[in-house]
Amino acid sequence: MINPTLGVCYYPEHWSEDVWESDAARMAEVGIAYVRIGEFAWSRFEPTPGDLHFDWLIRAMDVLGKHGLKVIFGTPTATPPRWMVDRHPDMLAVDAQGRQKGFGSRRHYDFSHLGYREEAGRITRLLAEAIGDHPALAGWQTDNEYGCHGTTYSYSPAAKAGFQHWLAAKYGTVDALNAAWGSVFWSMEYNRFDQVELPNLLVCEPAPAHDLDFRRYASDQVAAFNKVQFDILKAKRPDLPVIHNFMSRTTDFDHYDLAETLDIASWDSYPLGHLAVSTEPEEVKRQYMRQGEPDNAAFHHDLYRSVGHGRWWIMEQQPGPVNWAKFNPDPLPGMARLWAWEAFAHGAEVVSYFRWRQAPFAQEQMHAGLLRPDSEPAPAYHEASQVAEELKTVGITGPATKGRVALVFDYQSEWAWEVQAQAQGFSHAAHVRALYAAFRRHGLDVDILPPSTTSFAGYAIVAIPALFAWNDALRSAIAEFDGHLLIGPRSGSKTENFSIPTRLAPDLPSNLLDLKVIRVETLDPSIEVEVKGSGAIHHWRERIETKANVVIEDGDGWPVLVNQGKLFYLGGSGSKALVHRVVDYLIAEADLPTLSLPAGIRCRTRDGLRIYVNYNASAATLTPASDETGYVLGSADLPAAGVTIARLATAG
Ligand code: GAL
Repeated sequence: MINPTLGVCYYPEHWSEDVWESDAARMAEVGIAYVRIGEFAWSRFEPTPGDLHFDWLIRAMDVLGKHGLKVIFGTPTATPPRWMVDRHPDMLAVDAQGRQKGFGSRRHYDFSHLGYREEAGRITRLLAEAIGDHPALAGWQTDNEYGCHGTTYSYSPAAKAGFQHWLAAKYGTVDALNAAWGSVFWSMEYNRFDQVELPNLLVCEPAPAHDLDFRRYASDQVAAFNKVQFDILKAKRPDLPVIHNFMSRTTDFDHYDLAETLDIASWDSYPLGHLAVSTEPEEVKRQYMRQGEPDNAAFHHDLYRSVGHGRWWIMEQQPGPVNWAKFNPDPLPGMARLWAWEAFAHGAEVVSYFRWRQAPFAQEQMHAGLLRPDSEPAPAYHEASQVAEELKTVGITGPATKGRVALVFDYQSEWAWEVQAQAQGFSHAAHVRALYAAFRRHGLDVDILPPSTTSFAGYAIVAIPALFAWNDALRSAIAEFDGHLLIGPRSGSKTENFSIPTRLAPDLPSNLLDLKVIRVETLDPSIEVEVKGSGAIHHWRERIETKANVVIEDGDGWPVLVNQGKLFYLGGSGSKALVHRVVDYLIAEADLPTLSLPAGIRCRTRDGLRIYVNYNASAATLTPASDETGYVLGSADLPAAGVTIARLATAG
């Protein structure tokens, strides 16, 4: 693990060679340690097939290395050059409407195209040979943002052949596939695997198991694509980490699976852009347009810490206005610093700003950098320098503290509830994030766990928000858990093959929870069913038959929250007020100490420190917590976008 430090994304191929030297010197002056380069430069490495030019890259790395900078080299496979498309015209992905995508931007390849996968391996191998022993090289990034621009799915002939092959391997016989998918329904039975279609361009919806299997297949292709590069890079330099830069709210492939062939997870954090393109309510968008939604970056920090098995970076950090949202506001002064500190609070090793200098040409010319296009410092330049200075005085060396609360986040549940929404607007991810935010508003550290978790030992509260189907690991984890467990609506309501379990949801043995969901209704979001006391149910409402204790019921007397011992079940998707009420109840039952945080303030602990950030556009005052012994940065009075770091009495 690396002690917290800064990085930057740099494109030497965009600038004349004469400025490399001063760029590198200035990066070092800012306090930057890591520079990511290379990820879009294939047309400069290989302008025509087989004509290789790595000399300029080595010179660029020499210059960076001379200034003490360490290089993360991104393989350029997200941007295959034009000649590649001539060589493999069918490598272009096909959208769900059957239209082939064109050349002229990026990510135009199809994950299922084995010819392109081989080309990606070929250029990776050549680059590994060319620069693998360069002294400035400190790690690799594979490709760039898998799945960005809706590229996980392709409905091409290559995808169809690959899917059929994958199904044959999964099911063995076509009868087994027919049974798993329920193909007898509507006479959809197949006689052979090569008859199976992709789930697009059908008259109406495909069988849900068909759709889900296609998503599983597509996810496996992304992981397989990554593995090709991982194997090559590790064979060349077993000692260097392989990293990928994931994204915010991108869930169409299983990141846990892909990370089996990574050493470190990273993600690209653009808080303002992400808020602008999100489905957050308009008032949230207005309130936080210059700061970002206060729980969104944090949620991803915690998610990617889990994906990376504890090791994670920010590979791209927003430095100013971006170019790709509907509107692209300027961050509040101080946010480029706050975002970095918040990432470090959640355990980030490196926060790397995107990008060094704003490009005056092409698609992203309106995207800010640390430097303006005229090479003068942009505001984030100074904020990054400040972070670098502060890191020296704060001196973090340990990891993020293990939380007392954990949430299980499962990619298959995301897919399943997209395949079968049943209520327009029901979002698995939004449901998970609402629970996450409800814990965090009390200053609790939250960990995210994968569905393969076999033990919840050490946690006081674990929430399984809306799990598609149980697996053996989770079944044994919940059976042995001695803390408080919250199981949310829809959990265990399907089998792995997307059928209703014989026992009905939540499909648990009665000694754990004597409860059956006997009916489900879903509602237009404008309709809320009131809950006795406070809060409401919207979207998803379950009719529960249970011998367990009813804690909360709705206005019609239907159970909403029930418990059997320390196991709680929530039978509906709640309004914010209801989610808060349920979480507050659990926290009280578990007797967890909480903090009293002013609105808009968030915090996390790491290495004996509690790092507070102020997402408000105005000042706020902290009430010092009883476990704090003083401040190592800032004070109880936080200005807008301020950061305060308190030392804790007991380290850890
Ligand atoms: C990321 C991408 C970068 C750049 C950036 C702009 O999604 O990885 O290459 O396009 O967005 O914000």
